[in-house]
Parts: sequence; C-alpha cells; structure tokens
Amino acid sequence: MTHTQSAGLNRKFLWGGASAANQMEGAFDEAGKGLTTADLAVFVDKTTGQKPKKELSLEDIAELKARDGNFPKRRGNDFFHRYEEDIALLGELGVTAYRFSISWARIFPNGDDATPNEAGLQFYSEVIDACRRANIEPVITLSHFDTPLAIVENYGGWSNRKVVDLFRAYAQTVFRRYAGRVAYWMTFNEINAALEIPFKGAGLAFSNSPSYEADTHRGLHHQLLASALVTSDLREISPDAQMGCMDASFLTYPYSSDPEDVWLALNENRAYYLYTDIQALGVFPAWYRKDLERRGLSIELTEDELALIKEHTVDYISFSYYMSFVASADPSRQKGEGNLKGGVDNPYLPQTDWGWSIDPLGLRIALNDMYDRYRLPLMISENGFGAVDKIVDGTVHDPDRISYLRQHIAALIAAVEEDGVDCFAYLVWSPIDMISAGTSEMKKRYGFVYVDFDDTGAGSGARIKKDSFAWYQKVIASNGADLG
Ligand code: BG6
Repeated sequence: MTHTQSAGLNRKFLWGGASAANQMEGAFDEAGKGLTTADLAVFVDKTTGQKPKKELSLEDIAELKARDGNFPKRRGNDFFHRYEEDIALLGELGVTAYRFSISWARIFPNGDDATPNEAGLQFYSEVIDACRRANIEPVITLSHFDTPLAIVENYGGWSNRKVVDLFRAYAQTVFRRYAGRVAYWMTFNEINAALEIPFKGAGLAFSNSPSYEADTHRGLHHQLLASALVTSDLREISPDAQMGCMDASFLTYPYSSDPEDVWLALNENRAYYLYTDIQALGVFPAWYRKDLERRGLSIELTEDELALIKEHTVDYISFSYYMSFVASADPSRQKGEGNLKGGVDNPYLPQTDWGWSIDPLGLRIALNDMYDRYRLPLMISENGFGAVDKIVDGTVHDPDRISYLRQHIAALIAAVEEDGVDCFAYLVWSPIDMISAGTSEMKKRYGFVYVDFDDTGAGSGARIKKDSFAWYQKVIASNGADLG
C-alpha cells in the first residue's frame, strides 16, 4: 500500500481513535492472561498530595502482588466484556481506523510459554473481525506499557537479550494468526518511555545497583533490535502489512533566544529524535554514541545486529502529540507537568487541568519537523484532551475537548495542505473513556463516549455519548472540511 501526497486530505485518510489493552480491557486474570506491569499500578488519591510510584523495585513488586487495593488497570473500562458494544459505537462514530494493543500476557501469560494461549488469540481475532465488519482498519501495537510480569521477575526485563527472542516469538504468533486482516502494526508504544520510565517502558525493575543505568540503555537497544527483527518477520509473514514506530512527541522550544536555552532545546530535541533516527534511518547518532561513552556505557549489540537494525527500518512513523515542551538553562524556572516527563512552563500557552500545555501550532511544527527529517508517511497515533467530565441531563457537554481537537485538526490540515506533509492518519486518544496511563485515574477522561465508572470502579459501566461524539462524526463524514 502506498500513500500518495496530494493537495488536501487524501480520500483514504484514516480518521480514528487509539487505546491500549491495559487501560481498556480489564479482566486482568481471565481467559488465561498472566499478570503484567500495568496490573501493579495502584491508585493514588491526588488530594493526599501523594504521587504514584513509577519505578518499582523487585521488593515493591512482591509487596504489590500480595496487597489488596485499588488497581484500576486490572478492571480497565471492561472492554474485554463489552468490545462488541464499543466497536459498534466506533462504527457509528464513523472512524476508519482503530488502534488498540495486544497484551503479550494474554497470548503468552509468562512471556516464555511453549505454546500460545488460544483464548487470548481468539479474543483479539474477534476484536479484529468486529472492526472489519464496521469498516474499521485495525492498527495494532504489540507492546503498550504492559510487559508480562514474569519477564520482569524471571529475566530482568528488556535488559536481557533473551527477551528479544521471546518477544519475537510472540510477534510471529500474532502476525501469522492475523495475517491479511491487519494492515498497520507498530512495535513499542512511545519507545522513548524505555529511558524516561524504564519500569513501564522496558519492564525493568528499579534498583540502586550501579548497573541500573546501563541496564536501561541496554533495554532500549534490545527493543530497537526486536523492532527490526519483527519488522523483517512481518514482511515475510504478511507482506502487504506495514510496520511503524511510535514515539511520544517531546517537541521542545528554547525558553528564550539565549544561546544556552537554544543549545539545551537542541539537545532535548535530538534526544527525542534518537529513537526515530534509529528506527527510520537505521543509525545510532554520533552524539548518542559519545554520550554513552562519556557515561562509561556502550551499545552491546553485535555488528550483525546493528546491520539488521540498519536494514529493517520502518514503513511509516507514528507519534503521540499532546503538548510541546520548553527548555531553559535557568534552573529556577517553574517545572510543569507533562506527558511522560515534566518541563518548564510555557508562558504563552494555556494548560489542561493536569498542567499539560495546549499548543495546536506545535502539532504543525512537529509534523513538519518529522517530515523534513525522515520523508516517510506520518501517522498521528495519539492526540487528545484529558479532562473531568460531568453528566448533565443524561449527557456530557465537552466544549473544551471539541475546541482542543478542532484546533489540532486544523493544524494537521494546514501541515498537509499548505506545507505538503504526508500525514495519512489522525487517531484521537481515546474514543472511549478509560483508565489514565500516567495517573491510573478514571476521572481523567479523553473519550467521545463517557463510561460510567469512577476512580474506585463503582458505576454501571454504561456508555454515554458526549457532545464531542456528534462533532467528530461530522469531521470524519466531511473528511475534515467541517470542523464545526
Ligand atoms: C500516552 C500513552 O503517553 O499518553 C497513553 O501512550 C496515555 O497510554 C496517553 O493514556 C495520555 O496519558 P494519560 O497519563 O493522561 O493517560
């Protein structure tokens, strides 16, 4: 399949939504599924001033496994039992693509089992069929923040080279099973999480050991190798399908024209492009090699493995975009909240209730930057607005979400129509409310569809269309011409 560039949005432009198994499915111990890193995310009430612990040690894991408590990702929004209703809603919304992830532990409960779990394979088969019946193209992420826990406990997570082969066996299994039914795959959600939040991103238990830093970089290198290997596998097993990479956009502006700020921003940006440089261009950049050297670290991959990474680069690039970041050499500048990492507050931009800056032009900049750099088709695999929603008269009025999405879609259209960027898909995070990845809250909602569960899991689980549902329906039906 090729993506041709033309004036305006291509008629085959994919309008869609995106989600992740660990935030949607629930049923964490049903149908043979094993535990994952996400099943240990415990709810922390923000009003207590506490923050969820992101990096768990082996001791933390043992303690959390034994503890009763509020683990929201174990129950998700109950998609596992309600997928037919949910996909019917997506069909009614008119989306032409739906990105979801397969939970590795539903297919191989321990990550290294001799045979796959048929109940898990069957579940995703039904999800794919339901999408196809609704004329929705499935876009599948192989790993979205839910490494099987046994891989963490028994192998030391992605820092262990053996995990590359285990992941490859899992990927080959699902490629074979769903061959011909899935056109778009991607390997690791926000692969930059491997370095930013190693437990969630690379299944690496935190330790004070001096080798921890080396382990996180090795974990990333193994994920990059695994991406190349499964890309080559996909080309053999399902030659018509495409493999993409997925990065969290960390587009960073200098706080001022002070060269120190500019230099810092340059360094932040190239640290962000590191992953796509490797997955799209096949090279580990010189600055990164030098940086590793300075820290006394190295790339422990063989020449053959490096050649594989060079050879099997991705077909398309996808990235999540929620906000832009700011770099300042002045340490006293206020530190803000953000997606995966914090930063300096941008005085020119408003923020969401969670402190994420709102920057639609940043999306146009990010698209242009990516396209200038890689000249590959782009997919916006996540963009959305997290907010508290209230039911009023049986529905939710969410003008702020509509306004956020309208401005970002306008920026995307400008990038395509005016700047000639080849962007072929826009996927909103998330069409149906689900558990937040960062905070495990249910009240941080992104959906066009409200889900009647609260942070404790109380509620009927009923699905209720918000105002934004009819709005996005119109956007899709008009192929972006009518932004309301
Ligand atoms: C991305 C993740 O970082 O941001 C999603 O890929 C996540 O899993 C999304 O849900 C929004 O973040 P949060 O923390 O608001 O759920």
